[in-house]
Order: sequence, then structure tokens, then C-alpha cells
Amino acid sequence: MLITAGPTEEPLDAVRFLSNRSSGKMGYALAEAAAARGARVTVVAGPVHLDPPAGVSVIKVRTAEEMRAAVLEHLPEATIVVKAAAVADYRVPAPAAGKIKKGGARLTLELEPTPDILAELGRMKGNRLLVGFAAETGDPIPEARRKLASKGCDMVVGNRVDREGTGFGAEDNEVVLVMRTGEVVALPRASKREVADRIFDRLLKLRHAS
Ligand code: PMT
Repeated sequence: MLITAGPTEEPLDAVRFLSNRSSGKMGYALAEAAAARGARVTVVAGPVHLDPPAGVSVIKVRTAEEMRAAVLEHLPEATIVVKAAAVADYRVPAPAAGKIKKGGARLTLELEPTPDILAELGRMKGNRLLVGFAAETGDPIPEARRKLASKGCDMVVGNRVDREGTGFGAEDNEVVLVMRTGEVVALPRASKREVADRIFDRLLKLRHAS
């Protein structure tokens, strides 16, 4: 199983970067739950400050481009891919080599999209099961359905990220699973480890159904 976790960092200059508040806890909880079920697990993680789960191999990366390269390198060994990472959607095309000096004038940053790793995996997944996430403020189901179809996923985990106590950085999570069968399963709020187990329960059902 190949799992991505945490944020990516996209450099602006020698000391600054664009990123987000992902802690990696959801991805690491998935890795721990998968390893506890006997899976051989590789995690590709952005910059996180967590102890790796026992028995899991962790590859540390920084940028979306590095995450893409590590994911593609380890894809041949995987039968299930779970993309819990909060990959930055934009980056500066040519980060400054030194520190950008503060001037009096406004500063405009021009950004370009990062590679969409999930979409690329959807095009090349073969018989693998592919699970994407959709982090949304507001109802995550419409966007999860859109991503399921447009990125070739078997399941998309819709994750509300505008509520206290769940989502980014929290110990708990509350998610909705949108399946390629059309089924939608709302999971109650629980620890990320518990949510990870419920995701795998559903994923295995899906595998046995195919
Ligand atoms: O890390 P935690 O603090 O525990 O928080 C968990 C979480 C909220 C980060 C996690 O549960 C979650 O929702 N992860 C997905 C966050 C996200 O970036 O969602 P998105 O809707 O922007 O991206 C959709 C999907 O495309 C994701 O599977 C993402 O990994 C993938 N993606 C996005 C951009 C990109 N350039 N390449 C990608 O592969």
C-alpha cells in the first residue's frame, strides 16, 4: 500500500514557502491501520513532525514535484494507493535563490499549478484501488463526487475542514466516503486511527465486490 501524508512546501525564496496546515496525522493513522492489518506500507510524507508508525517505510519529501517523483517510483509495488496528503495546488515557477528583500512597494507573486498527482495516478492505475481525499469548507459531497469521476478514483474521502476539532491538525476527523458504486457513507466523528479503520473496511468491501 502506498499512502501520502502531510503538506508540501513550495519555496518562494531561500527562506519562505507556500504550504498549509496539514500535520500528517490522517496519513500516518492510515499507515498504522494498514500495517496493523498486515499490509506492507510505504508512506510518502511532506514535512511533518510525527514519529513514523512501526513497521512502515517513510520517504520524506518537500515539494509537490518531489512527492510526485516518489509516488511514481513506488507505484509499481502498490496494489492500493491512498492520497491523504494536502499537496499545494500552486507554486512559484522560479523561486528566488536568495531572500527577497523587503521594499516599500507592493509585491505580486505569479503562481503556476503544481502537478496533479491524483489525476495522473487515475490515468495509470490499472487494477489498483485509488483513494483520493477532498478537503472542503462546506458540504464535501459534491466535490468528492466530481473528483471521483474526473480523477479515476474508486473512493473519495470528503473531509470538511471548517469545523473545530476535526480536519487539519486535529486528533479527530469526520468524513464522508463517496464510492465508485454510487454509495455515500457518512462516518461519525472519531479519532483519525478509527476513521482510518472504517475507510479500510469500506475499501475492502469495494475490492471484494469488483
Ligand atoms: O494531515 P492532517 O492534519 O491529519 O489533516 C488531514 C487532511 C485534512 C489534510 C486530510 O484528511 C485531507 O483532507 N487530505 C487532502 C487535502 C487536500 O489537499 O485536498 P484537495 O481537495 O486539495 O486535494 C484533492 C486530492 O488531490 C487529494 O487526494 C490530494 O492529495 C490530491 N492532490 C491535490 C493537488 C495536487 N497537486 N496533487 C494531488 O494529488
